[in-house]
Amino acid sequence: MTLDVPAIRSQFPALSRMVGGQPAAYLDGPGGTQAPESVIHAMAGFMRAGGSNHGGPFASSRETDAVTESAREAIADLFGASPNEIAFGQNMTSLTLSVSRALGATWDPGDNIVVTRLDHDGNVWPWVIAARDAGAEVRWLDFDPDDGCRLETETIDTLIDERTRLVAMTRASNAVGTITDPKPVIDAAHAVGALTYIDAVHYSPHGLVDVAALGTDFLAASAYKFFGPHTGCLYGRSEVLDAVDAYKIRAAPDTSPDKWETGTQSFESLAGVAAAVDYIASLGEGDTRRDQLRSAMDQIGVYERSLSERFLGGIADIPGVTLYGRNAADGRTPTFAISVDGTHPHAVAEALGDQGIFVWSGDYYAVEVMSRLGVADTGGLVRIGFAHYNTAEEADRVLGSLTGLAGAGST
Ligand SMILES: Cc1ncc(COP(=O)(O)O)c(C=O)c1O
Repeated sequence: MTLDVPAIRSQFPALSRMVGGQPAAYLDGPGGTQAPESVIHAMAGFMRAGGSNHGGPFASSRETDAVTESAREAIADLFGASPNEIAFGQNMTSLTLSVSRALGATWDPGDNIVVTRLDHDGNVWPWVIAARDAGAEVRWLDFDPDDGCRLETETIDTLIDERTRLVAMTRASNAVGTITDPKPVIDAAHAVGALTYIDAVHYSPHGLVDVAALGTDFLAASAYKFFGPHTGCLYGRSEVLDAVDAYKIRAAPDTSPDKWETGTQSFESLAGVAAAVDYIASLGEGDTRRDQLRSAMDQIGVYERSLSERFLGGIADIPGVTLYGRNAADGRTPTFAISVDGTHPHAVAEALGDQGIFVWSGDYYAVEVMSRLGVADTGGLVRIGFAHYNTAEEADRVLGSLTGLAGAGST
């Protein structure tokens, strides 16, 4: 089974958009991904039916309860978890700040935590400020810029001890695309009694999340990165969710997972979250939705690696363009950080944008990554990110445009 990319593209209204007389090339994923019609339809349908708040004794409120339940079931399938281990929130950052505040309240001076230099700030700073408030020490797991921005997970034993309370790390870098293997880190953290928090925001549109295989205590993602709406999704191992006091108001439920959800949820988004998971599942085969998701992610991985090979092959031949990160299609997502000699990253993104090619520039909140790469003060990098709905023609198009820009910059 292989992906039918033209049929996939026909499901995404945004992909037929024209900009300045040419087709828009959305190479901005996953700074965010586009949504298929089924997601848009589910969200509009919820609103049209008169979506109410939850918990009321009338039809539209009962429908809202059902929407919440089906979104939890969908994310449980996406993560390989149980529905009672899934909570939703405004976005990954808000959920992580909320969990960090709750966990930080259990830390003491002399404790320590570990964060990484490869992570988005959403999985760095919530922990750093919680540690600061508790008087705990922050230790840093580094990556190697000279080795494809590989996270040096083998050094974890030198960073942790019996006072380590938490290890937070990413499953994949939203800046340079490195995929990590969190399993040895999670095992090492558990061996000293620390909890683990994995950021799967960037990884989730590219590969199968499997919290059971990882054995992590927490994992967070964001539906707008996997073809859904702007909603954060949190997994917490049920024993941990139950045991930790959530930082919440009195009126909120005391039971998990509800106690981790602050205020009224964006229920129309939850309708879209379930539809997004169903969309991914529709690309695969199998008896259960989890099987279909696994099969879909396998196909997405194969196809995206072909895009990566094409892009990496082409970029290597453009003088004046530098790739930051892994120079091979495996072990990475199809998200590439580059610079063009003599041209500010923002100017590169703007010039591509003028040609209908949507890419990002700057730090994309990967603050530590940019400092470590020495580009924090020079505008960061240009990020070109493919998703499974992008095509080889789009890869060639951006390579052609970069060739033109690099040539112009060198004159
Ligand atoms: C790897 C990674 N982690 C965390 C976040 C933050 O997610 P959110 O925007 O849902 O807070 C992002 C957003 O770009 C990201 O790419």
